[in-house]
Amino acid sequence: TVFAVAQGLPKLPQKATYKVGFAQTESNNPWRIAQTKSMQDEAKKLGYQLVYTDAAGSAAKQVADVDSMIAQRVDAIFLAPREEKPLAAAVKKARAAGIPVILLDRNVDPSLAKPGQDYVTFIGSDFIQEGQRVGQWLAKNMKGQARVIQLLGTTGSSPANDRRKGFEDAVKGNANIKILASQTGDFARDKGRQVMETLLQAHPDVNVVYAHNDEMAIGAIAALEAAGKKPGKDVMVMSIDGGKEIVQLVVDGKVNYVVECNPRFGPKAFATLKDYAAGKKIPAKIINPDRDYTAQNAKAGLASAY
Ligand code: AHR
Repeated sequence: TVFAVAQGLPKLPQKATYKVGFAQTESNNPWRIAQTKSMQDEAKKLGYQLVYTDAAGSAAKQVADVDSMIAQRVDAIFLAPREEKPLAAAVKKARAAGIPVILLDRNVDPSLAKPGQDYVTFIGSDFIQEGQRVGQWLAKNMKGQARVIQLLGTTGSSPANDRRKGFEDAVKGNANIKILASQTGDFARDKGRQVMETLLQAHPDVNVVYAHNDEMAIGAIAALEAAGKKPGKDVMVMSIDGGKEIVQLVVDGKVNYVVECNPRFGPKAFATLKDYAAGKKIPAKIINPDRDYTAQNAKAGLASAY
């Protein structure tokens, strides 16, 4: 494990309570809502003041949100960066202002900002591995030729970049798997449906959909059904996140495979903050373990899905 050396970073004094910022990306899906709730619940439990902002899907607003947290002199900032490049500058600005930043769930461009130097650490899933797991599952379970439509996440975000890379690396060189098209649905349900409708017209022979999140997969299912196709049977559906709605769709046989991306960050995020204040060495990356769901275990997993 690589450990962040806190030397270049702003110090966080040990205090009974903190005023901490949480700069959220957007709130348009159950995953984000679960993440926010987990952060708010934990702050409340600890008696910390949480300064919460919602960038509403705009990287520019999120940069301004971080600016406002700096102006309010929060003790530390939890940041879920919408896109890799624009938020790297915000991280550096906070550091220059003497405020430690912990990245949650999404990363910034590693060539622009580094753990242990510009921010304390990154806490979240291994997005490359998530994409790999989908690709490996497909290679193992596909009978015959797979003709795949890939619905990409938000352009310029680390989960979109990494889930694509992991998947494409895992299926590269496999003659049975052909990617027909890859297009962004911006991690949103309705955009996923619209994009799927268009791509279905261009590629009526599609028999696999890989969506970078549940929301786009649910949108794609609506488009498939409107076109008279049976999701889960005529067209295999795979996604990442693992919220209750998609796990139920696995139980119903409309979705074939889901890799979880755990949104419950609160306990780990605040424990890391306290460790940092106590002067403990913090790993450069703290990776959340993720489950997966298939027809075999979905029913049992439903109760604990977010
Ligand atoms: O960064 C994690 C991704 O962002 C989740 O998969 C998605 O649902 C969310 O908007």
